[in-house]
Amino acid sequence: MNSPITVIALCLLISCQGQHQNTPPNIVMFLVDDLGYGDLGCYGNETAKTPNVDRLAAEGVRLTRMYSHATCTPSRASLLTGRLPVRQGLMKGDILPFDVLMSAASDAGLPHDETTIAEILQSNGYVTAMFGKWHLGLGRNRRFLPTKHGFNSFFGTLFSHGQPCTTDYSGFRNLALFLHFLQTCFKIWKAIMLCVLFLWLTRLSSNKTTVIFLTSAALSCVMMYTYFYTLTALNPSTCILFRNQNIVEQPYKYENLTIRYTKEALTFMHQSLNAGSPFFVYMAYNQMHPPVFVSAKFKNITGRGIYQDALMEMDWSVGKITKFLTERQLNNNTLIIFLSDNGPEIYRPGIGIILPAAMRGSAGVIVDGQGESIYLRGHKTNNWEGGIRVPGIIKWTGKIPNAHTINVTTSLMDILPTVLDLIEIPYSGNNVLDGKSLVPLMFDKSLPSPHQFLFHYCDMHKPAAVTYGRFKAHFMHSPTAISCNGEELNPPLLFDIEADPGESRPLQLENYSEIISDINQAVERHLITRLSDQFDSGSQYDYMMWPWLFPCANFPFCHQEITDDKDIQLEENEY
Ligand SMILES: *[C@@H]1O[C@H](CO)[C@@H](O)[C@H](O)[C@H]1NC(C)=O
Ligand SMILES: *[C@@H]1O[C@H](CO)[C@@H](O)[C@H](O)[C@H]1NC(C)=O
Ligand SMILES: *[C@@H]1O[C@H](CO)[C@@H](O)[C@H](O)[C@H]1NC(C)=O
Ligand SMILES: *[C@@H]1O[C@H](CO)[C@@H](O)[C@H](O)[C@H]1NC(C)=O
Ligand SMILES: *[C@@H]1O[C@H](CO)[C@@H](O)[C@H](O)[C@H]1NC(C)=O
Ligand SMILES: *[C@@H]1O[C@H](CO)[C@@H](O)[C@H](O)[C@H]1NC(C)=O
Repeated sequence: MNSPITVIALCLLISCQGQHQNTPPNIVMFLVDDLGYGDLGCYGNETAKTPNVDRLAAEGVRLTRMYSHATCTPSRASLLTGRLPVRQGLMKGDILPFDVLMSAASDAGLPHDETTIAEILQSNGYVTAMFGKWHLGLGRNRRFLPTKHGFNSFFGTLFSHGQPCTTDYSGFRNLALFLHFLQTCFKIWKAIMLCVLFLWLTRLSSNKTTVIFLTSAALSCVMMYTYFYTLTALNPSTCILFRNQNIVEQPYKYENLTIRYTKEALTFMHQSLNAGSPFFVYMAYNQMHPPVFVSAKFKNITGRGIYQDALMEMDWSVGKITKFLTERQLNNNTLIIFLSDNGPEIYRPGIGIILPAAMRGSAGVIVDGQGESIYLRGHKTNNWEGGIRVPGIIKWTGKIPNAHTINVTTSLMDILPTVLDLIEIPYSGNNVLDGKSLVPLMFDKSLPSPHQFLFHYCDMHKPAAVTYGRFKAHFMHSPTAISCNGEELNPPLLFDIEADPGESRPLQLENYSEIISDINQAVERHLITRLSDQFDSGSQYDYMMWPWLFPCANFPFCHQEITDDKDIQLEENEY
């Protein structure tokens, strides 16, 4: 009975079963920072060299009308929780001019009453790991890090790869940033000078008080500088590389980040397979966020500018990971998702200088109702199509269709319910999801969008734009500037996105009064659902920054050379 043959046969049986029904699939989710809808070959860019991502699209489902939010923090929050980021206080507030979490020195971050996809997978036997950019807060006692939100391990950065993280930056030596700062100071100065003038005119002032006023005006500028430029992500010391809860490099050296993430992810997948656990990899590249960077190997590799080089390095990394999955024969058992967090950034971060074309992405070119190819309007930070329409690819060989396109309205918030639906695990959070499963759409092209209405916010107040089938109404004018907030539009602007994806031909409202009235009623109903949210109006971006919360290695230097990265280099033949 207990002959070796029986034992071997039994083992084989068990391991075979393991490969089929009983092992949940592995999940790899790529999120590229600021990747434009028009950057990839599979989204119509003929010059882009993105063969590995294009292959994912050919072998999976490609979403052509997937919406993110206009900036990183809210998009990432909604991706991981399946819910609108206004519910989490992660939208622009009334006090500070920020569209994302900007400070490591405030107790702000993804709230813990939210349930992330990582938490759900972790509690269902997955080992979960995140590599790359988090941007969902740090908080007191580092309570908002990925390791406190369902990830077994984390190797990556708190914030975007911004201007201060490049070596060519250092405080006052960056002229543009300094001038920008002077301008801001000048506004305060003007206000104070007006006060002085007023006091002079009303004869309440003397020379002495004038001197006091002028001195305090100068001092307030210095204080403002210290406050904003050291406690926000404008400070090089916020360019921190974490491993789990610990700082391993501050400020980090950026050029090899993509290689390092790739290596870490390969090691993690290898270890998880050895341990026999299904894995969840969340690979959130810093790349494509300006200032764009590449490792030495990819410098000028395309001869078309650094943006294309960086795109190719990101694609190389995707290729390394998909190759690993193929070699381990895991394709039938791995769900792969590829996304961007918002449209292309076209400004140098923090200052309103437009980037040269070779350093920025493409909002995308689409054929409109009149057969003309037009660029989508807008870019990251606003709710025009170019700001919030992002690439989205979902692939699971043998399980969902390949070379399939879904062209109805979908959202980053749908990823969580879609993943859970595909792997047949229920949502275990206590919240009502705003996202919907896209699984039915994968099998039936004739179905309508699961979102009759989709709400796009600029701030914590009310939707700035609403998508309703083929229509989109804008209730706030998004200026071509760094921020989403502009003047309120009354009446709104209405576009037929299918006929006019470039949003250049507003419809005559008198012909669409029913559409507008449907949208207005939907907004009213939606706002009622927000009354029970913890953050029904206040934004976490406005939270006070406290110097003692600032993560600082080797206090007071806030400087840390790599501590645990023995071997950044990949072997020559690994490229
Ligand atoms: C980049 O490559 C192109 C051709 O591939 C070459 O003409 C150009 O000089 C290179 N630029 C730099 C900065 O090396
Ligand atoms: C994947 O599934 C297909 C069909 O379902 C099968 O032909 C193929 O052998 C499987 N590949 C692996 C590596 O299991
Ligand atoms: C292709 O990508 C490059 C760089 O992102 C961009 O300049 C170009 O406009 C894109 N082309 C299209 C058709 O979007
Ligand atoms: C979306 O796909 C459907 C069916 O495949 C097609 O009838 C429709 O014209 C497409 N719409 C757009 C905007 O491409
Ligand atoms: C609006 O409707 C009127 C008649 O009801 C029509 O004459 C006009 O062309 C329509 N305008 C548009 C832009 O469709
Ligand atoms: C990046 O890696 C290369 C080797 O691939 C190495 O020579 C270089 O020093 C590394 N750069 C940094 C900043 O660590």
